[in-house]
Amino acid sequence: MERLTSKEEVRQAVLAARRERKRVALVPTMGALHAGHLSLVQAACTRADYVAVSIFVNPTQFGPGEDFEAYPRDVERDIELLRAEGADLVFTPTTEVMYSPDAQVTIDPGPAGDVWEGAVRPGHFAGVCTVVAKLFGIVTPDLAFFGEKDFQQLVIVRRMVRDLDMAVKVVGCPVVREPDGLALSSRNAYLSGDERVAATVLYHALRSAETLALGGEHDASVLAEAMRSIITAEPLASLDYAAVVDPVTLAPVSTLEGPARAIVAARVGATRLIDNLQLVPGA
Ligand code: PAJ
Repeated sequence: MERLTSKEEVRQAVLAARRERKRVALVPTMGALHAGHLSLVQAACTRADYVAVSIFVNPTQFGPGEDFEAYPRDVERDIELLRAEGADLVFTPTTEVMYSPDAQVTIDPGPAGDVWEGAVRPGHFAGVCTVVAKLFGIVTPDLAFFGEKDFQQLVIVRRMVRDLDMAVKVVGCPVVREPDGLALSSRNAYLSGDERVAATVLYHALRSAETLALGGEHDASVLAEAMRSIITAEPLASLDYAAVVDPVTLAPVSTLEGPARAIVAARVGATRLIDNLQLVPGA
């Protein structure tokens, strides 16, 4: 596995892989890798012949007062994990390499970037879209792998690729969880012992909506209320939103007529956590 830090080196490496008629995959990450990230690398290895992973804590997707500086970083450990998974290339640019000082053009994610996470984190999805588009431009992957953990991000990236005719196939991968249901996240490292226990409330809320839906409750407001009451009952958690949304538009649904997505966000202590689950209407 090669570790490269310049765009030009990455272009050359991908070109060499293309000359060998290899199918190229990209897994964009911000590092502090865990089994959730590695599941994307594993999926990429089964579907492509040349797997590039980027590690870049992208400043433009963090708002003022967010955790850009505190975000966990351990590139040497990440590289060992990626080597063990059989990745071919890890791209670790600096901010100066990624962004020229006079960069002006950014990508507008549209209305889907203003709701849910976007409402709490203004500019976040513009930062995500811009860096992902840049990574697509540098690596020119055939396939790009994203986790359903960040469901809104996945939806917006799919839409960007469709609306801007980007020649890449976006592959969504299921959420990887701890045995007690907590979705793996680099930010789980911020949780104290008590908070770590309380954090499972997000998953419990999602599962209760799933159970109700399968049991025939198709009124989305009842499902959302059930999730809210479970999260607000946890003293260490402070609810941000709990909703049932259309999996393509992210607009709230009123009735569960087909597959929908339950989405939740809450602060546990000082740590903001998000999670989601597909809901399928039962008989
Ligand atoms: P990061 O948070 O590092 O996540 C990188 C990828 O791993 C994302 O596609 C995310 O959805 C996926 N992922 C994280 N936790 C997961 C889990 N428990 N199960 C499955 N997949 C999981 O998301 C970003 O970085 C950035 O916004 C990025 C796309 C790299 C742009 O900067």
